[in-house]
Amino acid sequence: MKIISSIDELRDQLRGQLRTAFVPTMGNLHEGHLSLMRLARKHGDPVVASIFVNRLQFGPNEDFDKYPRTFQADVDKLEKEGVYVLFAPTEKDLYPEPQEFRVRPPDDLGNTLEGEFRPGFFTGVTTIVLKLFSCVQPRVAVFGKKDYQQLMIVRNMSKQFALPTEIIAAETYRADDGLALSSRNGYLSADERSEAPLLFKTLNQVADEVRSGHLDTSELEKKAMAQLAARGWKPDYISIRRRADLQPPSAGDLAQKVELVVLAAAKLGVTRLIDNLEI
Ligand code: PAF
Repeated sequence: MKIISSIDELRDQLRGQLRTAFVPTMGNLHEGHLSLMRLARKHGDPVVASIFVNRLQFGPNEDFDKYPRTFQADVDKLEKEGVYVLFAPTEKDLYPEPQEFRVRPPDDLGNTLEGEFRPGFFTGVTTIVLKLFSCVQPRVAVFGKKDYQQLMIVRNMSKQFALPTEIIAAETYRADDGLALSSRNGYLSADERSEAPLLFKTLNQVADEVRSGHLDTSELEKKAMAQLAARGWKPDYISIRRRADLQPPSAGDLAQKVELVVLAAAKLGVTRLIDNLEI
């Protein structure tokens, strides 16, 4: 595997490649990321991964400084997956001058759910993703469904800018007890780790209630948040949305059984976990 940090070198290395499959990451790789690499391999060749902890998508009080950086362990894992190039730029490589041009997602999609609780987050994500796409010029790029809203925003961005990159969705990779794998799970204490699967269990309960015909979505959301809060969690939201645009479903939508997804974000101790489940 070639490890490349400069944009020019990356372009030289990938010149003429028409089927590149790309997996952008912020490192601290776990099985979930590796499953993205395997999916990428099915959709293209060569597979290119990136590791870059993107300052633009962190709020001033978020965990940019303490975000886990495990470069050598990540390299070993990617080597085993047969990744052809790891693009691992420094901040200077990627932002040689301040990044003044930004990509701002539309308000209805970018300022709801994660965007409401993490202002500016999606502008940070879309700006770096567009820049990484411009560096790698992939045919396909793989994003996990765990970051459901991110996946939709990146997909819509790619479509609206007519980028030549198809966005592939990868299923969420879960531990045996249901917890979605995430680099931030590493912040959990042992007790919190055994409590953490409750988030996915709660999503399943909500989904089961909707499937069995309970259509007062706001009551279901409130009940689920209260259940988490009673066990010491601090939920930001549990929200039932239309899959198509992540907006709240109307009574008509519910009657017509439009496709739904329930999304959640909640803090357990100092760790903020997110998850979702298609209903
Ligand atoms: O999902 C992530 O790890 C990040 O948001 C991404 C897509 C690599 C952009 O920094």
